[in-house]
Amino acid sequence: MTDPAPSSVALYVHWPYCSRICPYCDFNIVRDRGRTDEQAALAEAILADLAAQAALLGRLPLASIFFGGGTPSLMDPAAVATVIKRARTLFPGGGDVEVTLEANPTHAEADRFAALSDAGINRLSLGVQSLDDAALAFLGRNHSAAEARRAIALAAAAFPRLSIDLIYARPGQTAAHWREELETAVDLGFEHISPYQLTIEPTTAFGRAVARGAWVPPDEDLAAELYETTQTVLERRGFEAYEISNHARGEAARSAHNLHVWRGGDYVGVGPGAHGRLTLGGVRTATVAHRKIGDYVAGVAQGEPWAESEALDARAAAEERLLLGLRTTEGVAEVVFEGLGLAPAELISDGFLVTRGGRIAATAKGRPVLDGVLKALLT
Ligand SMILES: C[S@@+](CC[C@H](N)C(=O)[O-])C[C@H]1O[C@@H](n2cnc3c(N)ncnc32)[C@H](O)[C@@H]1O
Ligand code: SF4
Repeated sequence: MTDPAPSSVALYVHWPYCSRICPYCDFNIVRDRGRTDEQAALAEAILADLAAQAALLGRLPLASIFFGGGTPSLMDPAAVATVIKRARTLFPGGGDVEVTLEANPTHAEADRFAALSDAGINRLSLGVQSLDDAALAFLGRNHSAAEARRAIALAAAAFPRLSIDLIYARPGQTAAHWREELETAVDLGFEHISPYQLTIEPTTAFGRAVARGAWVPPDEDLAAELYETTQTVLERRGFEAYEISNHARGEAARSAHNLHVWRGGDYVGVGPGAHGRLTLGGVRTATVAHRKIGDYVAGVAQGEPWAESEALDARAAAEERLLLGLRTTEGVAEVVFEGLGLAPAELISDGFLVTRGGRIAATAKGRPVLDGVLKALLT
């Protein structure tokens, strides 16, 4: 079975450099050691990769662009502008699309916001993580709460749209403290917030610390209480949880890029380790670029940017649509369930899923235990 032809394509650009490596992070990252030649070569490779993938796809309209990392706020604004212009030329007709860039809130990066706005960024996703200096020190961040507040103010002035990331479920954090922190953050003013529960990744410094018993993350009950606190505070302050970790003040404030991905749209991934989903010859194809910068640059030069590319069969593609779609409040079309031969009657009668207008979505009871819901569905 072939997938329907995509009607638009989004672009994800991965910029792997970070000023400092945070002890919880297992993204595809490297320390920024100021190697400008390497960075210029990577920016060139990203442009060449983009052009090559566009040639495979044809002239689809552009849906959105997302610069993620790593820390793309460290990228040369001129290189950011060139990528945006090239994407608009290769995928014309997308109109005035959302162009997001992830930024760290240090003084040095905040001082580049105006240049990044001039480069064509119209939405900033700022990694504030916490507004408590002790928590920021624990998280190994290279900025203070005061720096983060200044960055929020500068970002609000430079970009029409602003989102912030926070990390909760830190050791010792109480629901009362988290409520206060969230309220303080919301008072600073932005249209979108992504509060992430701290995940202990085994290969990180935090993973090793927890394994040797240096500290203990919050237990399941406290983590659930912190999650509930997040929902209650943000809902009361006018934010809708349109996805498990994403809350927006009104529909226009939702991330168009993330929605495109969660709805199963095609996206080109460029940069080291970037993932993509392309419909090639009618077949949904998952791509992963070479993770190491040198391998990626060499791979692009040889016409082989991908470490892996896998044609997904209809079942794998539909399962992926389910996994992503059930994270959102809009859910997944019932036909996707039918195509997989799934009849979730029991999960519906138990109140974990709900049917609405030909779609099935997770309820407020189902969302916090979505992993279990998906397991029950797919096994
Ligand atoms: C790819 S990071 C890039 C953002 C930017 N470099 C920064 O650190 O501000 C995107 C977000 O993922 C979240 N994140 C990364 N690792 C995490 C973890 N182990 N647990 C919870 N959230 C995490 C952080 O909130 C971070 O802002
Ligand atoms: S959280 Fe952000 S700054 Fe920290 S290592 Fe990960 S990508 Fe880099």
